[in-house]
Amino acid sequence: MNPLVSSVLRPARGDDLDALCQLESISFEGDRFTRRQLAHLLKRAHARTWVAVTDEGALQGYGTLLFRRNSRSARLYSFCVHPEARGSGLGRRLLEALEGEALERGMQRLTLEVRADNRVAMGLYRRMGFLPRRWLEDYYVDGCAAWQMDKSLVTAAEAPCGSGEAAAAARLG
Ligand SMILES: CC(C)(COP(=O)(O)OP(=O)(O)OC[C@H]1O[C@@H](n2cnc3c(N)ncnc32)[C@H](O)[C@@H]1OP(=O)(O)O)[C@@H](O)C(=O)NCCC(=O)NCCS
Repeated sequence: MNPLVSSVLRPARGDDLDALCQLESISFEGDRFTRRQLAHLLKRAHARTWVAVTDEGALQGYGTLLFRRNSRSARLYSFCVHPEARGSGLGRRLLEALEGEALERGMQRLTLEVRADNRVAMGLYRRMGFLPRRWLEDYYVDGCAAWQMDKSLVTAAEAPCGSGEAAAAARLG
């Protein structure tokens, strides 16, 4: 796959399942989703997956958000880019598309967990405005710890009165 090939971002469809399974198996060493789990995520009303595909239809990356009833917080549940397409800004674009989706659904916060040894992903999240909030010891099956990170999607001016971090930022600013 040529990483310079342009890609289009769009919500995932049922017929993306085979390619998603393939990408999952080459992108993660452990804690992979099974075909059944991926199929379930594509159907769930409170999950939303975005994919990046080349003009020829080859899958280059995907990211999945989970939503909860009565919550203004969305969770980045899975996120990866094909190894041959990494480092060309696709991860950032996908994350921006997912943030856009979360905002459209009225979400005020995005949370995620990332392996403590995943420097590339953590660097990207930090540059995208995520902050580490909680250290989760022994979080993954191989015993690796995780950082829980989050990002406020609202500006201080938009935040409801007295709401957490954005209001605090407004007071401090
Ligand atoms: C994390 C991941 C999705 C990033 O995707 P990507 O397409 O490479 O991301 P980008 O090209 O947008 O790069 C993001 C940043 O990381 C940097 N970067 C990318 N690959 C890098 C590498 N191997 N070493 C150091 N920096 C790297 C880029 O320079 C870029 O920096 P910038 O934001 O200052 O421009 C991808 O590496 C991946 O799929 N990893 C395996 C699965 C995974 O770890 N998922 C995250 C689970 S929490």
